[in-house]
Amino acid sequence: MTISQDGAEFMKIFLDSAEIDEIKAFADTGLVDGVTTNPSLIAGAGRDIKQTIADICALIDGPVSAEVTATDYDTMLAEGRALAAIAPNVAVKVPLTRDGLKTCRALSDAGTAVNVTLCFTAGQALLAAKAGAAFISPFVGRLDDLGQDGMGLIDEICSIYANYDLDTEVLVASVRSTQHVVDAALMGADVVTLPPKILAALYKHPLTDNGLAAFLDDWQKTGQSIL
Ligand code: E4P
Repeated sequence: MTISQDGAEFMKIFLDSAEIDEIKAFADTGLVDGVTTNPSLIAGAGRDIKQTIADICALIDGPVSAEVTATDYDTMLAEGRALAAIAPNVAVKVPLTRDGLKTCRALSDAGTAVNVTLCFTAGQALLAAKAGAAFISPFVGRLDDLGQDGMGLIDEICSIYANYDLDTEVLVASVRSTQHVVDAALMGADVVTLPPKILAALYKHPLTDNGLAAFLDDWQKTGQSIL
């Protein structure tokens, strides 16, 4: 979690994107604490994975998740080490499989932050914490798509981790709406990773736009200038 003004911990916001221009557009707002990518986002961006991750790490100080694409332990470990070597703030992402958990343990023991991804049950989240994960990524939107309760899963994982004061951070992924973000904060999740359009939707409101237009219209009539 990030530290808020009064010293309490507050939910972090990551951008879920591999598009450099999108990340640049938000990087200087001070709102972005990290970035998550996955093989589909890298494929969509159409650039070399290592160069893309290096470019993102140069823009963002916080954790930047880069995902392995092998499925066996030995190759996952080698890929994880190669990704971690790109920059000190890379968090290696591994899938929640038997080999992924084993890779998580090995990389975590070597001091690399690991984000265990594709989590769909509290039992899986429990094992990821046991394997030393820095982050667990439950995919709420994909559960909602199946008619299941994505945010209910977040609530369960937050409770289990709180019971044992675990360090693994709950990173709410596959976010589809601003309500997911608000619910995540109500539940005390550590991180939400947001597609840029959801981050923009969080501050956008028609009453804000209309109110501002009216204020500026009235201000114009005064003929005054602050500077
Ligand atoms: C991030 O870590 C996840 O890979 C991402 O949030 C998945 O989102 P999606 O379900 O919209 O693809």
